[in-house]
Amino acid sequence: MVELEKLNSLMLEYLDPEVRLVLDMGKYTIEAGGKRIRPILMIEVCRMFSDDCEIVLPLAVGIEYIHMASLLHDDVVDGALTRRGRASANLIFGNQAVVLGGDYFYAKALWLYAVYGNLKAVELVSRAVMHMSQSQILELISLGKIISEEEYFKIIDGKTGALFSASMGVGALMAGSPFYEEFYKIGMSVGRAFQLIDDALDYAGSEDRLGKPAGNDLREGKCTYPLLSVIDKLDREWVLERFGKENREELRQKVIELGGVENTKKRAWQEIEKVIEYVSKFENSSTFIDLLESVVKRDY
Ligand code: IPE
Ligand code: IPE
Ligand code: MG
Ligand code: MG
Ligand code: MG
Repeated sequence: MVELEKLNSLMLEYLDPEVRLVLDMGKYTIEAGGKRIRPILMIEVCRMFSDDCEIVLPLAVGIEYIHMASLLHDDVVDGALTRRGRASANLIFGNQAVVLGGDYFYAKALWLYAVYGNLKAVELVSRAVMHMSQSQILELISLGKIISEEEYFKIIDGKTGALFSASMGVGALMAGSPFYEEFYKIGMSVGRAFQLIDDALDYAGSEDRLGKPAGNDLREGKCTYPLLSVIDKLDREWVLERFGKENREELRQKVIELGGVENTKKRAWQEIEKVIEYVSKFENSSTFIDLLESVVKRDY
């Protein structure tokens, strides 16, 4: 398995800003922890095809910087107060500094890709960030609305799937595998599964384990899979009277009672099973398959 300590120390080392506040923000976010699932996926895909994956380390750091930047911006947009079990960076450093600091992490990531990767790697991560930012906007403009399942997947494919795609695509690319586009494509299913679980945990997860408050999505008027999967069993008027409103707790309980969380976990497993089937054709895929399963088994 990936040595997280090494990854964490590289993340601090490559940061290297001139302005103290940027360093403070970076350290604050990095030291708060996080699952590091994107860099881990990148390194493990690389290891499936190559014995020497040192070259992928700066790019693994870069993908986590992109993720960090997206979280900094996301917490400003979502008005979040907690992240990784601590006060969110926007609460500590203010919205303005966090938006600008996020820009630094995006740029540092691209710089790492240009210096330690290659043009194709730069293209894959830029493609992912373009997709991600547009879907974050799609989500923003659909707040407060009951969307279709199709719209939901369009949003999560971009906001979460794309970065998983880039992680897995770059891992394969840097190992010299010709299948990097296929890995980019199936990475989307891993990201889907990951976001489905995030959405299930937002309904029924423990705040202590998550390091961020549960129930955020309903509070923000974000229509996610647990609700969508049971929407036909509910009266729309009744839902809209509670969706994003003070009395949303009643709606949350109803969605859980009707099996919304279970449906969501089942849907996540379907996505992961597709991926397991695909990667099983490669030798040395067993560690990677364990990792894929951990994406859906998690409770934080
Ligand atoms: C949070 O990502 C944002 C989503 C895409 C759900 P993670 O759940 O990977 O966050 P950390 O890095 O572990 O804090
Ligand atoms: C975050 O999605 C996706 C990106 C940062 C691109 P969410 O808004 O659902 O993530 P959390 O729940 O705040 O971690
Ligand atoms: Mg958020
Ligand atoms: Mg968000
Ligand atoms: Mg969420």
